[in-house]
Amino acid sequence: MNVHRLDKYAKSLIKVAAGRIKSSFTTDLLIETKSEANDLVTNIDKETEQFFIHHIKRDFPNHRILGEEGFGDDLHDLEGYIWILDPIDGTMNFIHQKKNFAISLGIYKDGIGVLGYIYNVMEDELISAAMDEGAYFNDVRIPAVKKANIEQSIIGINASWVVPNKHIEHEGMIKLLQKVRGTRSYGSAALEISYVVTGKLDAYMSMRLSPWDIAGGMVIAKEVGAIVTNLANEPINLLEQNTFIISKPGLHKELVTNYIRLKQ
Ligand code: IPD
Ligand code: CA
Ligand code: CA
Repeated sequence: MNVHRLDKYAKSLIKVAAGRIKSSFTTDLLIETKSEANDLVTNIDKETEQFFIHHIKRDFPNHRILGEEGFGDDLHDLEGYIWILDPIDGTMNFIHQKKNFAISLGIYKDGIGVLGYIYNVMEDELISAAMDEGAYFNDVRIPAVKKANIEQSIIGINASWVVPNKHIEHEGMIKLLQKVRGTRSYGSAALEISYVVTGKLDAYMSMRLSPWDIAGGMVIAKEVGAIVTNLANEPINLLEQNTFIISKPGLHKELVTNYIRLKQ
């Protein structure tokens, strides 16, 4: 498999899919809920995933697809080529704001990240990376992320971190908020990851993400030297949900050691 050909193909599929998403703004959205009242999906999330799957299966019949909306394959291993796709990351933003959402895609071979993409549809910003070939913001090479220190950092977390919750001891987070320069929450994990790899955030963390939220971002992170683990400082498993942190060097260890206390 020629990686450059695959890269060109994936980029063109992403751009066409994004055009279809934008065209949908003139039609009525069908909105449904999934696991709970605020877990939303629309007909456009589903149609976008089906669009990718139709093309990938036609042009790469041996490749498998893990997609959020469930139209892809039922995966129990990471053998061969696997496309890990979130057709719209930030569906709530897509519905309410018509901005701040992304197409997130990672292409893996035998569990190793080969190509990664995060496309901010409304800003026309494509962050992409190929293994060992660096990461790009549209056509401009992204430099390696710089070392960060906690006092001058902006951390991507949402409000659920500072109220009692079942995943982490929230007192440590209040301590963190008092120490950092600021916090931000954008409502799209993929976009938040893209902001760390391009230096706009110093770290981003989540108590629960799925493989499709992070697969593309993980390939990009590696190329710019950003550190990705779960909140227990262990490697991510792409076959299940994980806690998640991506951080610039210099900050990751301090966050997982001194501030994040996981509940058992
Ligand atoms: C969600 C977004 C959100 C994150 C959730 C994800 P979706 O993805 O990335 O920012 O906090 O955990 O599920 O449902 O919009 O694809
Ligand atoms: Ca998502
Ligand atoms: Ca989604």
